[in-house]
Amino acid sequence: MPTLSKMTCVEDFRRLAERRVPRMFYDYADSGSWTESTYRSNETDFHKLKFRQRVACDIEKRSLHSKMIGIDVSMPVALAPTGLTGMQHADGEILAAKAAEKFGIPFTLSTMSVCSIEDIAAHTSRPFWFQLYVMRDRDFMERLIDRAKAARCSALVLTLDLQVLGQRHKDIKNGLSTPPKPTLINLINLATKPRWCLNMLGTKRRSFGNIVGHAKGVSDLSSLSSWTAEQFDPSLCWEDIEWIKNRWGGKLILKGVMDAEDARLAVDSGADALIVSNHGGRQLDGAPSSISALPAIAQAAGNDIEVWMDGGIRSGQDVLKAVALGAKGTMIGRAFLYALGAMGEEGVTRCLQLMANELDVTMAFCGRTDIADVDRSILLNGNIFD
Ligand code: GLV
Repeated sequence: MPTLSKMTCVEDFRRLAERRVPRMFYDYADSGSWTESTYRSNETDFHKLKFRQRVACDIEKRSLHSKMIGIDVSMPVALAPTGLTGMQHADGEILAAKAAEKFGIPFTLSTMSVCSIEDIAAHTSRPFWFQLYVMRDRDFMERLIDRAKAARCSALVLTLDLQVLGQRHKDIKNGLSTPPKPTLINLINLATKPRWCLNMLGTKRRSFGNIVGHAKGVSDLSSLSSWTAEQFDPSLCWEDIEWIKNRWGGKLILKGVMDAEDARLAVDSGADALIVSNHGGRQLDGAPSSISALPAIAQAAGNDIEVWMDGGIRSGQDVLKAVALGAKGTMIGRAFLYALGAMGEEGVTRCLQLMANELDVTMAFCGRTDIADVDRSILLNGNIFD
């Protein structure tokens, strides 16, 4: 029986989540589009970067404290918006939001979440962030924005790279739906996940909490990809972003920027931050890894906008490498999803502790004491992606 104290890295959580979470939801999190080459290179490119070990430079007092869009964070990490988080574990978004709040880092609720905006607001006391897609139903978008304002969300994360859907083979093969359809194969798989089933029986939250009962003509929703195909608006352009910025009126973060030219357009849009992201390798397979795209984007953006990154972060070392290459903040998705699926809220808390510890100790090995002073010079080969 795995115990919390024996969980020492994200990979431990991944393995346990694979055993505990029903196949279709585990696969939904743990997959990329088409050949999954971008998904894989998000992780493997981090390993190409090497640290400079420094000694005898007084590393006694150290700080990971940072700011992301002016918000104090205990380390430069936020929980990324991830769809169907409440299917990795019952009430998953609430549990992850609580863990993030206690740890002093931001939680971002996905539009495609199981728990609703109001659910998160009711179970947390610090403002969280809300993620939005541009949908054809602009009235519905306006209502989502208003609901996020009413819930005192402190930033809107606008996803720009999911207006068309990259094919994920496993979701199609598994017949992904929420709740799962009672086919024989699903029932057999569920029978091997008693803990998940028991937790799920104890909650009413089993569908898309932000959408069902809120979007016009949607009273029940069975398929993520058919909703995506119908509602996500491929005509999205920068004028829409301006409209959203004005309608929202608060901090705006643009997610999915992978090109230096788009980074300049993001600056022109007046957004507060951009996230270098290929959607965890789930959209454009064949795109570069996020960490390799980061330096050029950070250079193009200069100090005109905060540059963050996500994709492939599985450790505190990865966070440090991203910071070294110019990210003022990072987001983690799968790393916390595995922990959530494996062990619920205490899994996420443990995962954050492990990452923070690794970040702190690695920074110390590099001879630095303040994350705010970390730059490329902590790397031996910080120019490999230039
Ligand atoms: C949604 O954002 C997804 O990647 O499935």
